[in-house]
Amino acid sequence: MAPYIGTATSRVDGRAKVTGEAKYAGEFKAPDLAYGFVIESTVPKGRITHIDAGEALRVEGVIDVLTHKNRPRMAGTDKAWKDDVAPEEGSPFRPLYGDSIKFSGQPIALVLAEEWEIARYAASLVRIEYEEQAFVTDLYQQRDQAFAVAKPDKPHGDAGRAFMAAAVRHEAECFIPTEHHNPMELFASTAIWDGDGKLTVYDKTQGVQNVQRYLCSVFEKKPDEVRVMSPFVGGAFGLGLRPQYQVVLAMLGALALQRSVRLVLTRGQMYGLGHRPATIERLALGAKADGTLDSISHEAIAVTSQFEEFSRNDTGWGALLYKSANAKYVHRLARLDVPTSCDMRAPGAATGVYALESAMDELAVALKLDPIELRLRCYSDRDQNEDVPYTSKQLRECYRQGAETFGWGKRNPEPRSMRDGSELVGWGMASGVWEALQMPAAARIVLTANGHAEVFCAASDIGTGTYTILAQVAADALGLPIENINVKLGDSTLPQAPVEGGSWMAASASHAVVATADEVRKELLTLASTIKGSPLGKTSLEDTTLVGGQIVSKRDTSLAISIADVMRHGAIDRIEKEKTNSFPEDSGHARNTHSAVFAEVKVDEQLGVIRVTRIVNAVAAGRILNAKTAHSQVMGGVVWGIGMALHEETLFDHRFGRVMNANIAEYHVPVNADVHEIKVIFVDEPDKIINPMGIKGLGEIGIVGVAAAIANAVYHATGKRVRDLPITLDKLHRSA
Ligand code: MOS
Repeated sequence: MAPYIGTATSRVDGRAKVTGEAKYAGEFKAPDLAYGFVIESTVPKGRITHIDAGEALRVEGVIDVLTHKNRPRMAGTDKAWKDDVAPEEGSPFRPLYGDSIKFSGQPIALVLAEEWEIARYAASLVRIEYEEQAFVTDLYQQRDQAFAVAKPDKPHGDAGRAFMAAAVRHEAECFIPTEHHNPMELFASTAIWDGDGKLTVYDKTQGVQNVQRYLCSVFEKKPDEVRVMSPFVGGAFGLGLRPQYQVVLAMLGALALQRSVRLVLTRGQMYGLGHRPATIERLALGAKADGTLDSISHEAIAVTSQFEEFSRNDTGWGALLYKSANAKYVHRLARLDVPTSCDMRAPGAATGVYALESAMDELAVALKLDPIELRLRCYSDRDQNEDVPYTSKQLRECYRQGAETFGWGKRNPEPRSMRDGSELVGWGMASGVWEALQMPAAARIVLTANGHAEVFCAASDIGTGTYTILAQVAADALGLPIENINVKLGDSTLPQAPVEGGSWMAASASHAVVATADEVRKELLTLASTIKGSPLGKTSLEDTTLVGGQIVSKRDTSLAISIADVMRHGAIDRIEKEKTNSFPEDSGHARNTHSAVFAEVKVDEQLGVIRVTRIVNAVAAGRILNAKTAHSQVMGGVVWGIGMALHEETLFDHRFGRVMNANIAEYHVPVNADVHEIKVIFVDEPDKIINPMGIKGLGEIGIVGVAAAIANAVYHATGKRVRDLPITLDKLHRSA
């Protein structure tokens, strides 16, 4: 039996997904289910002075209208409302807690009815009066009030002085607008009343155990009174890391009615949840005439809410990629009257590396150097921030293989020099970098005598392929066909797992499965050794492996006993083991994934319409567990990068503090017609240091660098540099 790890294995949940058998949070049924509909604030700041639900309550089928005045009890401390991944600083949002309004779109009442349509109609009849207060939703208006937050990366040298002394300088500011996640599945929760104050809550989340702990703490419940399930997730991308307000309101409704409640947000209401923060990025690069960097200064000014301080690492990436004796970073937060911003695919890097890699392109132009050549002259084999080497870094190979596949050698460096009929052709490139994180996680394996195994872990599969890679890993570790492996995920009662995020789940959960399979093998060997005349009597655990339904000596494969025989001898029909894996601390190495992204754009010379006709993304991300799901991850990241470069932008009307395009008709994302050729290359990157299996994860690296590569290609095509995303044709016409 060939190993499964590394092959292009199709999704084990693929059939369930395409047939609709895979149920999402808003699809679980329960007897006597009531439906909720949220009423949102129409003002961004102030106080609720009056709520009149009289007319709504008279509608037939309406059960109740919950507000801060009549809701069941909820905890009253910030600590109780802090979930596992809440920002350290601040006071988490509490839906329906009090009369204060913190952002437009804030939930302020929950209508509960026998049917969803009735709840929605009745919601339109609730009259709300506010006392409005002055507010601000424009980052540029607040940038001078922005305050610096402590970020991990320390400066080195004197970046200011080195910049002034540099032979060639580049300094510019970029802007990345607010972006909303817009997963296909709407945020939803079905809180099933199990009686006696106990609930099973189906929630759209990336972390069932995080939500379970949060609900227990908010509603002062014992751990065994709340079970949270999330077997399938229709996209989340970071918005599902923290519990969102709909899960609180679904449970609140269920507690109030003592019956099951389903709450599905509308697409528009999801613009009242978290978002990628609008960010101003300032880059100053100073180089010697030979194209080596001497100074990197990176300042980010990002949006947070008035009540929490959310920030990620935008600024520290330059010194991971490039040698520079001097570097300085500043991260500021501007408070606006909006919901707290949150993680979105490659948070910090998608934005920060966009700015960095745009600046590197501008520096290459100033130095009259090929953009790859500049990056090679600055190439760093060490993390300059921590001054440590990498566990592995095959970025040079990414540049080489990406350039070769793309045909970069045929590029004429002169802007506006390449064309195809009425279109200007531009070729641009950028580097990408992300973290290779790993977290403690546990797994349980139940192996039965018939050679089947069940693998249990609380992890969520948010569409990344976790079910599939864990089935592959378990099949190899247990020596069974993948068809005999059944993976169960997304249930808070299962063995402990971190939230599915940060690209850490593949490494974390795979090692948990292997560690548990080792325990299973140990038990099998113990039993096998007691068999009279056992062929494995003298074999040590390290010298055994599980292959083809047998426990086998690695030194002499003729020494083997079938799992069925071992269990029969031991008079058992199953072996059940659970084990937690954690990774040893290693502060002596940097752990990162890398990429080189190449983009071709064609720009209509008259109209300025931009098409991204080709992308090559060469990724070095350690061991690739599944060539098929890995390819899909990176391809999805590339598509999102196209959106970031050309389409995505949440538009506010700052006079009203409201999102104007809270729908997927006017919030543009790339559609099929916008997506052309995407080639994904995985550069071979063996890594014996990072973890035993050499896994780095790649949920996020796929988007990093894509927007910069496209922006750089647009410059090469047109000679125009649009630094504010998205690059739309009006900006292209305006810019010099
Ligand atoms: Mo990812 S933004 O950590 O879900």
